[in-house]
Amino acid sequence: MNPFVFWNPTVLYYGQNQIEQHLVSEVKKYGSKVLLVYGGGSIKTFGLYDKVVNLLKSADITVFEFSGVEPNPRLTTVHRAIELCRQEEIDLLLAVGGGSVLDATKAIAAGVPYEGDVWDFYQTQKRPNEALPFGTILTLAATGSEMNSGGVITNWETKEKIGSSSPLTFPKFSFCDAENTFTVSREQTMYGIVDMFSHVLEAYFSHTPNTFLQERLMESVMQTIIENAQKVLDHPHDFAARETIMYCGTMALNGMISMGVQGDWATHAIEHEVSAIYDIPHGGGLAILFPNWMNYVLDAGIDRFYQLATRVFHIDSAGKSQREVAQEGILAVRRFFTSLGAPRALSDYQIGAQEIERMAEHAVRIGPIGHYKKLEREDVAAILRA
Ligand code: NZQ
Ligand code: ZN
Repeated sequence: MNPFVFWNPTVLYYGQNQIEQHLVSEVKKYGSKVLLVYGGGSIKTFGLYDKVVNLLKSADITVFEFSGVEPNPRLTTVHRAIELCRQEEIDLLLAVGGGSVLDATKAIAAGVPYEGDVWDFYQTQKRPNEALPFGTILTLAATGSEMNSGGVITNWETKEKIGSSSPLTFPKFSFCDAENTFTVSREQTMYGIVDMFSHVLEAYFSHTPNTFLQERLMESVMQTIIENAQKVLDHPHDFAARETIMYCGTMALNGMISMGVQGDWATHAIEHEVSAIYDIPHGGGLAILFPNWMNYVLDAGIDRFYQLATRVFHIDSAGKSQREVAQEGILAVRRFFTSLGAPRALSDYQIGAQEIERMAEHAVRIGPIGHYKKLEREDVAAILRA
């Protein structure tokens, strides 16, 4: 393993009735003026908005609102929320939504006390020295943003989508009740599943030696996702399946299964280039690009591909070469994604070849990306073209 420090300060409330029991006391730790941050209004359709606002107001907490955070949240939206926080001297942000709302909230939290443009934390190596505290109520299982310090923001003017993280942007607390994900559409549920599965794959493809337990942990998360994916798509109100998937999403990217492991992360970097220009769902981009990446880097370490094929997808290796089994594993990943209804090619989103060079160029603007195999501009272009 690589030497590591593990620190994750988010207080996690999982399961039913936790909001009723603990939200007010958590919020009161940080003050009495709260900004509720949410998206396009889905939280109003199933009673969550009313529940949260009523709980807070009945405890004499002053609630301000900022709505309209878009999927693939935009810098201009974050700017407007920062202004509002400063104007109203907000004590705590409360993000209620999916990864986009949570990520926007992280940017708002870092931006409020900062004199410069919050985009500095995304575009440069600069990181915040202070941040407003924030908590979250998760409504979509996907990103793991509820228990990690990362966030991704899109600058629509420059067509850049960039992630950033800082020890100051962990949520103080997160409430994860799977019932709040019952109304997530089939399509968004599928994108979320692809995203969490991809987070595990990013960590799994690693050359770090002596990570036996980490690999087993990752394999168990992937197997659990596979076992429950179709259940949540067929039965969106199946609490047990929804909760299992939600927990997989949290575990996939809260650092627990990948301590001391150098993951790859090139596919995420490439996907961000695509959604920066075409504004496609993150999970959709990953479903297309991950198998492409796997085919492209196979020779950088065939053993791990073989291990994925045999341990996660139970591919029978009898009478086959290591390479054949590894390739069947890649096919199994593609089949798993498409069995859920995920797209298989960029052309499914009417994306042609015209921007490939520009996306490839931007992906490697700081240097080669990825760790399993370092990718240069031509490599990224080849993966996009595939
Ligand atoms: O805006 P509302 O009305 O809330 O509707 C949302 C949105 O339209 C809807 N939705 C959410 N919860 C719902 C619901 N609809 C009905 N019922 C509910 N309970 O779903 C749509 C998509 O929401 P979004 O938050 O965009 O989805 P997701 O959670 O997949 O987040 C995607 C964003 O997270 C970033 C992605 O790049 C993308 O910008 N990522 C963040 C990461 C992180 N912070 O660690 C890591 C990931 O790799 C990813 O890059
Ligand atoms: Zn992701």
